[in-house]
Amino acid sequence: MLERNAVLEVVALLLIQGEKVLVAQRPKKDRLAYKWEFPGGKIEKGESPEDALIREIQEELGVSIRVLSHFKTIEHLEPPVPLRLYAYFAQLQGGNPVPQEQQNIQWIPFNELLSLDFAPADIPLAQYLVSYLNTV
Ligand code: CDP
Repeated sequence: MLERNAVLEVVALLLIQGEKVLVAQRPKKDRLAYKWEFPGGKIEKGESPEDALIREIQEELGVSIRVLSHFKTIEHLEPPVPLRLYAYFAQLQGGNPVPQEQQNIQWIPFNELLSLDFAPADIPLAQYLVSYLNTV
């Protein structure tokens, strides 16, 4: 059980190809059903964020990645699930992402990213990402 007020530690993947970024839509059965997010999930006990991201992406998308760099940590501390979201740039090691958990995925052009209906913690992350991409 989570302690009361415990903050969930979560990782998210920023995977960019050309002028597009990969996003996933949470399946019907999940909390935040149909909201879009950057793929990822909970960090397990004793795991580094990088290892958690590699594991989560293998589980969710069936591909291995190489983690490149930390981009931002977003704190979304509101109930019902206060969370800290660590976002990393990464690259594919080969193969293409294929949803393994009934989620939808898409490669979305940078200039359309902010039109998605994102999960709350991913909204500021998407905004930071678009600002960053406009400067590089
Ligand atoms: O895959 P796992 O069960 O470890 O985690 P999850 O259910 O996908 O994500 C854990 C929590 O982090 C959920 O409350 C998600 O809504 C949240 N999350 C998020 O807000 N943004 C992401 N990019 C990934 C997860």
